[in-house]
Amino acid sequence: MTLVEPQTDEYTAPDGWVRVCALDDLEVERGRAALLGGTQIALFLLHGPDGSAGRVHAVSNLDPYSHAHVISRGIVGTRQDVPTVASPMYKQVFDLRTGVCLDTQGKEPKSLHVWPVTVDAGHVLVRWDE
Ligand code: FES
Repeated sequence: MTLVEPQTDEYTAPDGWVRVCALDDLEVERGRAALLGGTQIALFLLHGPDGSAGRVHAVSNLDPYSHAHVISRGIVGTRQDVPTVASPMYKQVFDLRTGVCLDTQGKEPKSLHVWPVTVDAGHVLVRWDE
């Protein structure tokens, strides 16, 4: 597992936000894991509408079905217009925007925790609620 560097000396995130990494640390449609206060989060940079870099989503790296920290290694895709990630373990598919499981593979519905993300001057910030 590759963890990104959470903080830098030269940048102070606004109140309530934590800098997770630089936008340049992320690859489009390749998840990265980051450790924030003992919690693993999975970051996903999606394609923009014109093929440019688009939005960043942050969800729990913990797969609620397998209880393994694997979501950052999941497969990014779409269902209709919904950006999704499929767990590499048992292939449940989650909405990256809400964390809701769209395909439970016959199991009980479980969701990923999601955190609001913004990008400020090339820094990826997560609104940290715990
Ligand atoms: S060792 Fe990094 S996700 Fe499992």
